[in-house]
Amino acid sequence: MTDAARFTLIRHPSSGGAVDFARDVHAGLTATPKRLPFPYFYDEEGSRLFEAICGLPEYYLTRAEAEILGRHAGAIVAPLPPSVELVELGSGSATKTRLLLDALLARRPSLRYLPIDISETMLEESARGLLADYPSLQVTAIAAEYRSGLRILQDQPRAEDSARLVLWLGSNVGNFHRPDAARFLAEVRATMALRDRLLLGADLRKERTVLERAYDDAAGVTARFNLNLLARINRELGGHFAVDQFRHLARYDEPAGRIEMYLVSERDQAARIDGLGIDLTFAAGERIHTEDSYKYSQGELAHLAAAAGFTVEDQWMDEAGRFAVSRFAPA
Ligand code: AVJ
Repeated sequence: MTDAARFTLIRHPSSGGAVDFARDVHAGLTATPKRLPFPYFYDEEGSRLFEAICGLPEYYLTRAEAEILGRHAGAIVAPLPPSVELVELGSGSATKTRLLLDALLARRPSLRYLPIDISETMLEESARGLLADYPSLQVTAIAAEYRSGLRILQDQPRAEDSARLVLWLGSNVGNFHRPDAARFLAEVRATMALRDRLLLGADLRKERTVLERAYDDAAGVTARFNLNLLARINRELGGHFAVDQFRHLARYDEPAGRIEMYLVSERDQAARIDGLGIDLTFAAGERIHTEDSYKYSQGELAHLAAAAGFTVEDQWMDEAGRFAVSRFAPA
């Protein structure tokens, strides 16, 4: 079969589109305190910058998770039946996914992969690479935010008796407040059969200095990733932000167990956004909250699983104990 015959792209009609962006930027920047929603990091430039973050010496998360998957992929997929479909939430470049594909395809002739990602470009690029390297792979890519992606997924008939392995890797769960993470995972649970499994990659609670360095790297890539939100508003909404008059801030709130990212105004300033017809003012030191990245303890992972209708069936950590990959089974 040709690669094209093995690739289907399903696009959610609106989600993450220009209308949503305008509405969410308007709501976030006219609120007190000001905020911007994290999904908008991932335009083409932002997705590229995030890939660069994954290779930074300070950003241990990607390497720690790859270490776990590389070492334990066989054990991770062991309880799944021969007929299996692989689903991935927030698939991005799908680099680590290959470690699981290798383990799954060692035991079965072919496989369907259903990545869900907000970036259509990332979906197309990652699928192109996967289809070239895995001749028996079938890809059904879903370009959507998580929730609409899940709904599209539910409409996808699955091969008879196949089990689904749902991946939510890369500490993507960290972007959700803890109760929201449980609620979202309960929604994922509702799409799953008893024989299905969920694989969750979560960053663990650790020393402040290690965490703050991971989110404020020496090369300034994370700062560019954060500031790209303002550049994107300038590009797409006719914004007039002086991007160099804002700085990146990442701080760890230890009791809450989360990294918080902000864009901080370097001085009193104004910024007009033509496309929204608004004039904004910023006081010196005023912050725009752009991201939360929650860290988990073992206890918090068990609690998350239980709150969402799962049990932690098995769990693996990297050698340094920085990151955990947990296999959740429906309770
Ligand atoms: C993609 C949400 C897992 O929180 O570590 C990386 C995003 N932000 N550096 C994370 C991010 C700043 C990342 N996640």
